[in-house]
Amino acid sequence: MTCELSLLYRVIIFAGLLHATTFVANGEPQVPCYFIFGDSLVDSGNNNGLATTAKANYKPYGVDFSQGVSGRFTNGRTVADIIGQLLGFTNFIPPYATATDQEIDTGVNYGSGSAGIREESGSHLGDRISMDRQLLNHETTISRLSALQNNKSFTDDHLKKCIYLSNIGSNDYINNYLIPSIYPTSNTYTVDQYAQVLVQQYSQQLKTIYNLGARKIVVFGLGQVGCAPAEIARFGTNGKPCVEWINQAVKLFNDKLKSLVTELNSEYQDARFTFINLTSISAPQGECLDFADVPLPNNPCCKLREDGQCVANSSPCLVRALSLFFDGFHPTETSNTLIATRSYITVSPADTYPYDISHLARL
Ligand SMILES: *[C@@H]1O[C@H](CO)[C@@H](O)[C@H](O)[C@H]1NC(C)=O
Ligand SMILES: *[C@@H]1O[C@H](CO)[C@@H](O)[C@H](O)[C@H]1NC(C)=O
Repeated sequence: MTCELSLLYRVIIFAGLLHATTFVANGEPQVPCYFIFGDSLVDSGNNNGLATTAKANYKPYGVDFSQGVSGRFTNGRTVADIIGQLLGFTNFIPPYATATDQEIDTGVNYGSGSAGIREESGSHLGDRISMDRQLLNHETTISRLSALQNNKSFTDDHLKKCIYLSNIGSNDYINNYLIPSIYPTSNTYTVDQYAQVLVQQYSQQLKTIYNLGARKIVVFGLGQVGCAPAEIARFGTNGKPCVEWINQAVKLFNDKLKSLVTELNSEYQDARFTFINLTSISAPQGECLDFADVPLPNNPCCKLREDGQCVANSSPCLVRALSLFFDGFHPTETSNTLIATRSYITVSPADTYPYDISHLARL
């Protein structure tokens, strides 16, 4: 079989995945609640009211989303949305910015475009809710929930059963370390030292999530930042498909993050942390039926502004199901579906460590 045929298989597989994830929600979700921390990969509208250029509350974002424009940085659902559906939630978890008392017992989404593990990451784009501030917002949610439920042991019990997903760190590279004219980190730290300080700070933040009652925590590694169209345009690739040195820098972070997950699992015996390996999930799976080789193109699906986001009201590409990236940084719903389904049920043993989300939910 030649690899030209694989395009057809891809279409069938992706159409199947998209279809499947639309109909899984039936009856009770597998866990009572789901909290989401992170950046634009999971933001569902928290930046809409902030003074920042890092928001996506305009067309063509949301062109394939049931509710249209929402602030999601993609054409359709985010990876966090799809994982929520796979867990059996019929409604999307509401953004912190607008979540009502009636909604918060099933979870809240704190994600904020351009936010990082470090406070200053993304600051040149404007306001954002850094990971530390997302944790403060989570404390506020818990106070609210405690007041509503008025039974401490009930609330504690409830919070233990939730899935907590954290997907952050890309902006500590894209909107910090990789912009030396604005941020001094690359003068201060080697790539290895930087990965170390980031993981150290992230470790404190994950411990805070634990201390706020979490016992099932999904930690996303970073995707291959050096393959983002905006980074390729900025740095060039020397004939390679991606900016290799950026991917190498991010790999140092991912390796240390995976080790951190192992440490946290032994330090907190009553909790379960799991690491999601996006490099594995987007890597070739056999000769033809892989995700990363041609013909799924790396070029973005919309016309880009200088900062890598879509130009407002520009026409998106027509066959969005066959694009990896929607804008200069953000995956399409097709990519998000692949990532979500393989995080939920592992395909290759390296995809998740030590559990996939379907197992984590049942523990
Ligand atoms: C508080 O919740 C616990 C279970 O989490 C339950 O056993 C107990 O009856 C509740 N207390 C009140 C006063 O409702
Ligand atoms: C992720 O998976 C890739 C491909 O299988 C592997 O080379 C890499 O070591 C893994 N990364 C981590 C942090 O486990």
